[in-house]
Amino acid sequence: MFRLLFLLFSIVVIAFDDDPAQQLPAFKERTKGPIGLMTTSNGVPVPYREVSSSLNTKFLFNEYLLDSITHIIRERIPERFVHAKGAAAFGYFEVTHDITNICKAKLFSAVGKKTPIVARFSPINPERGGSDLYRDARGFAVRFYTEDGNFDMVGFNTPMFSIKDPIYFTTFTHSQKRNPATNLFDSNMLWDFVTERPESMHIFLMVFGDRGIPYAIRNLPGFNIHTYQVVNEAGEYYFVRFHFLPNSGIKHMDAEQARIISGIDSDYLIRGLYRDIAKGDFPSWSVSLQILTLEDVKNADFNVFDVTKVLPLDKYPLHPIGQMVLNKNFDNYFAEVEQLAFSPSNLVPGILGGADKIFEARRLAYREAQYYRLGVNFNKIRVNCPFMGHPLTYNRDGTAPVRDNERDIPNYYPNSFNGPIPYMDYNTTKLIDIVEDEPNNFDQARDLYQNQMSADEKERLIDNILYSLATATKFLQARAITLLSTIHPDLGSRVEQGLLSNMTENYMNLKK
Ligand code: HEM
Ligand SMILES: *[C@@H]1O[C@H](CO)[C@@H](O)[C@H](O)[C@H]1NC(C)=O
Ligand SMILES: *[C@@H]1O[C@H](CO)[C@@H](O)[C@H](O)[C@H]1NC(C)=O
Repeated sequence: MFRLLFLLFSIVVIAFDDDPAQQLPAFKERTKGPIGLMTTSNGVPVPYREVSSSLNTKFLFNEYLLDSITHIIRERIPERFVHAKGAAAFGYFEVTHDITNICKAKLFSAVGKKTPIVARFSPINPERGGSDLYRDARGFAVRFYTEDGNFDMVGFNTPMFSIKDPIYFTTFTHSQKRNPATNLFDSNMLWDFVTERPESMHIFLMVFGDRGIPYAIRNLPGFNIHTYQVVNEAGEYYFVRFHFLPNSGIKHMDAEQARIISGIDSDYLIRGLYRDIAKGDFPSWSVSLQILTLEDVKNADFNVFDVTKVLPLDKYPLHPIGQMVLNKNFDNYFAEVEQLAFSPSNLVPGILGGADKIFEARRLAYREAQYYRLGVNFNKIRVNCPFMGHPLTYNRDGTAPVRDNERDIPNYYPNSFNGPIPYMDYNTTKLIDIVEDEPNNFDQARDLYQNQMSADEKERLIDNILYSLATATKFLQARAITLLSTIHPDLGSRVEQGLLSNMTENYMNLKK
């Protein structure tokens, strides 16, 4: 009788309220009473006497106290040194258009095919506890759990990157982060780097423009930036750039509004995504490709592999391929999002990756970062497991998790005892070799300012540049004006005027 009542109660599952603040009340509704006995991590039930007080007792004999204190000391792992703060969710990708003529990757094999995905959206520079409304480019990372292993598209909400030579990655990143002496973000560092490596001005025009602060995660576009080489069954290869366009439209938040909201809720964007999904209002994106042949690559009047450049849409139009939908929140942030380990080197048969140097550097860097953050078996952590495939490696042991450690399977290759064997990839191709010249993208930066920004956006762009540049020293301001004038005389002179006017006084005060 008691059992029956309990069953009856437990099937009246209260629908999860869309307000994240209702998570705990909803859990209570669902469970009715304590869900079980509390134990130590060793599984031994904890007596009330051990949790209620430790006064006048011997600590070494209180297993609960030792277990909990020694564990909390080890709770933190290194945060990602870039993209530390992120919103994320699970969902699926559905093929809407056949592209088997250019790419044999199984995730594109049939129209209507659905592949499970996880996506994470992250400003680059704020720390895990920073504001998600910080003016910055946003990471736009999507993992496709395919039957041939995981394919990660680790992109941005801008169609270009800041540098084309990975040699500058470390110091570029430093220049965007905190000054080591003051521990503050420092516009001298930013403007010094940007004016020394002016190819980065292309992305900075976008970031200081409207793209720098999204209205909501569901309004973020996504770009893979790298031009990837893909191959079909016959071994013919093509070059593609991925575009994810939000079905809710690209929308932005203006700086003033973001400053106000940030002060009240620094998790505004993360909360919004969580709430949208909890109430069933699922964000979705239309996925398409720019597709180039080898002839197109040779005939282009610039290097189409240059990540500081965009591929103009009028020359290389978008070909729709599918839809991405996010319809499930994580149950536990640390387990399912903090431990996510995206990597551009997670490629699947049919997708060869980028031929450029930034891509080559990234193939090393993410794996390194994840060994450091998560340990050698990071691919055995549940969110990283290629669960749609059948992973079978000759790797063994290492720090946990090791899962079943490949049980009794032979651990050396080649072997004569039926251990796993490699497959034959017929009709394959290698990444083409490219020669990369020094960057120069003033043309595209000029086009962005002159032709693609509305008069209103230009106004906001100049305001946002002034907000940052106002606190830089005089010689860097002068260098910035020279650089901005080279991009467009109007841009340079308006920034110069702005610095001369007293509007920047307000910005200096705001930052104090
Ligand atoms: C030399 C160039 C680059 C290097 C060395 C580099 C390195 C890294 C590293 C080490 C991480 C942290 C990964 C982790 O701890 O899990 C990271 C995160 C990230 N990077 Fe890069 N990166 C580079 C360029 C790029 C470019 C060009 C893009 C976009 C196309 C990009 C997008 C991202 C994103 C989205 C994340 C966050 C992934 C997540 O959500 O966990 N990075 N990067
Ligand atoms: C290789 O390509 C040829 C056409 O060029 C095709 O007939 C053949 O089936 C392909 N082989 C495989 C294993 O896909
Ligand atoms: C400077 O500020 C004063 C008010 O504080 C205003 O009257 C004046 O127009 C401003 N000058 C410029 C050049 O913006």
